[in-house]
Amino acid sequence: MRVVDFLVIGGGIAGLRAAVGLAKSGSVLVVMKEGLAESNTTYAQGGIAVAMGGGEDVALHLADTLAAGDGLVNAQAAAVLVEQGPKRVGELLEWGTVFDRYAAGDLTQAGELMRTREGAHSLPRILHAHGDGTGREIAVSLLRHVRRLGRVELMEWTTSIDLIVNSDGGRVVGATLLDSDGGLIEVQAGAVLLASGGAGQVYSETTNPAVATGDGIAMAYRAGAELMDMEFYQFHPTAFAMEGAPRFLMSEALRGEGAWLVNARGVRFMERYHPGLELAPRDVVARAIAREGMDGPVYLDMRAVGAKTDLKARFPGISKFLEGYRLQLGKDLIPVCPAAHYLMGGVRTDVDGRTSMPGLFSAGEVACTGVHGANRLASNSLLEGLVFGALAAEAMAEDRVQNFECEVLGPAEGWRDRGGDLEGWISDLRRLLWRDVGLLRDGAGLRRAQQELASMRETMPFGLSRRAVEARNLYTVAEAMVRAAIGREESRGAHFRMDFPERAEAAVHSVLRRGELRFVSQ
Ligand code: SIN
Repeated sequence: MRVVDFLVIGGGIAGLRAAVGLAKSGSVLVVMKEGLAESNTTYAQGGIAVAMGGGEDVALHLADTLAAGDGLVNAQAAAVLVEQGPKRVGELLEWGTVFDRYAAGDLTQAGELMRTREGAHSLPRILHAHGDGTGREIAVSLLRHVRRLGRVELMEWTTSIDLIVNSDGGRVVGATLLDSDGGLIEVQAGAVLLASGGAGQVYSETTNPAVATGDGIAMAYRAGAELMDMEFYQFHPTAFAMEGAPRFLMSEALRGEGAWLVNARGVRFMERYHPGLELAPRDVVARAIAREGMDGPVYLDMRAVGAKTDLKARFPGISKFLEGYRLQLGKDLIPVCPAAHYLMGGVRTDVDGRTSMPGLFSAGEVACTGVHGANRLASNSLLEGLVFGALAAEAMAEDRVQNFECEVLGPAEGWRDRGGDLEGWISDLRRLLWRDVGLLRDGAGLRRAQQELASMRETMPFGLSRRAVEARNLYTVAEAMVRAAIGREESRGAHFRMDFPERAEAAVHSVLRRGELRFVSQ
């Protein structure tokens, strides 16, 4: 049994930023499922959206965030995000994060931060690092800063199994962990932060890394916390689309720098879908590509841009990936398709990171403050982790308890090893979600998914291993997503119901707790 003041589950931008804040108030343990910096944060290419110009700039960032979210954004959360963004990014700069700047020889902007544009942004406000390596630069520099502070222990290769709830079932007081040798560790903490990221692995087609299995969401739900808006999964329009290749992200910044989308006949098509063309909101572009994709492959075309810009220098990570497939950004058409990318829903959380259970906080993709509504604005996710990670740390320091009683309930039901084909079972689940709970859904498909999930419960091959824990978490997340998607009989943002193609008049959030679904206005 370990006892710490603060337990942070997840080492991406939200968890690390929270750890920086918490280090002032007590001992901090940050638990990561893989090695340092292996999180969704590290894979974020395009950048971090932030209104560094203040005033009008901040107001426009708010307006863009609200518009992209299709009527469902929690305006209070969005205001906090855009208003606090510049200060939090300023801290990153102080702590040594290096964003790209205009070269010394640039006549008008020498030394200034470079800003690019992405979908549904009214102006260029996306900062980036190493061209398309923004997330990695932030993760690595935050890790360096955390290490300098001391008082924060980073525990790698450790899987979180379940939250520990005190004996009256009210307060979260720790978590049960599984170390890399298969040993169980119980950690008790005065406050617990879920910062474990998203759940892209619930789909067979995803831009997310292997760690994104919805662990925090599933643990919170099993412990009795409320989830919100689980039906809203964002599909990134442009993942690499080659048979047998990973769905590597082709950053929206490519379109921000002028890439076109063309169909199998080589024709640019976005004008038929939205006046914003290639920079329309992400949900609109993803559905347009899916529709055009029914008649053959869809491509990103950067040939016109390539004549004016050194694309290898601007997008080194993407260029290197494409070299492996003998493709070049400025010369070849790049095949793309939508893939699961970001969960707008998650653990219902206020702007200070408080969930519906005392002692439990959440920040970043695992959380749902409602800041993204039904569709997240491009590059608002790194900012979300940064701003809400910092705020959650402040609330945790205020709310933590020093003496608490807890009764550890022992391994949860079903941990005995049932054997079975674990990888096959996980693949079936991921394909099922992609087929029935994807970009375009309807009631019949969703109900079929619900039935198939119910029978998969019988064959779930539990055991005490990281993969078995992940299988159980993916299942919990999948069930919640399907339940919420069945309940929402409208189309809004990323949730497109072919049987209810219109947007309902009232914008309501779905709230799910212990299998009970309800809708609330905020
Ligand atoms: C991208 O670079 O396209 C991803 C940015 C994001 O998810 O907001």
